[in-house]
Amino acid sequence: MSALVSTIRATLSYRGREGHWLWLLHRISGLGVLLFLILHVIGMSSAFVSIEIHDRLLEMYKTPPFAIGELFLAFGLIFHAINGTRIAILELKPELWQKQQLATRLSIIVVAALAAPTMLIMAVKSIQAFFGSAH
Ligand code: HEM
Ligand code: HEM
Repeated sequence: MSALVSTIRATLSYRGREGHWLWLLHRISGLGVLLFLILHVIGMSSAFVSIEIHDRLLEMYKTPPFAIGELFLAFGLIFHAINGTRIAILELKPELWQKQQLATRLSIIVVAALAAPTMLIMAVKSIQAFFGSAH
């Protein structure tokens, strides 16, 4: 809860253009992926309790709301991994601090290059599965 309060407070008070939005997105993506991971492991371990519940969960994952959630998950994972690598490299190498803008732009480009095709393929496959003719 205090993490949420401090995120909201810092979001409202800190003004820093791209760096600000990347910081916020890094936080949301990290917490989002962590939340997914917790639910994912609980969902998978339901197989130990009841195969029926597990099967029903897997069926539920094939519905449109979960397909949309998976798009956010894919973006969140790609963004967090690439942006996190940028943060880690800059923390380890202070001599690169004059090149922060370049690093920020580079990571936005790499995220877009990886996320756009991934999300496009996922969206097309989902649309085909939900609306395509049944074969
Ligand atoms: C929508 C995307 C994903 C699907 C469909 C998926 C599917 C699965 C399945 C079927 C298993 C069970 C494998 C087995 O028992 O043989 C599994 C296990 C696991 N997955 Fe995923 N996964 C996804 C995303 C992720 C992500 C993003 C993470 C990490 C953040 C992750 C972490 C894990 C872990 C740690 C296990 C082992 C947990 C356990 O055995 O209870 N998965 N996943
Ligand atoms: C290639 C994989 C990853 C890299 C390079 C990475 C990198 C980082 C870095 C550098 C930070 C610190 C950011 C800062 O100091 O401002 C961070 C924060 C965080 N990461 Fe990751 N991470 C990765 C995967 C993951 C995964 C799989 C999860 C969740 C299961 C995760 C959850 C988080 C969370 C919750 C935070 C804290 C966010 C915050 O409070 O601002 N990360 N990550």
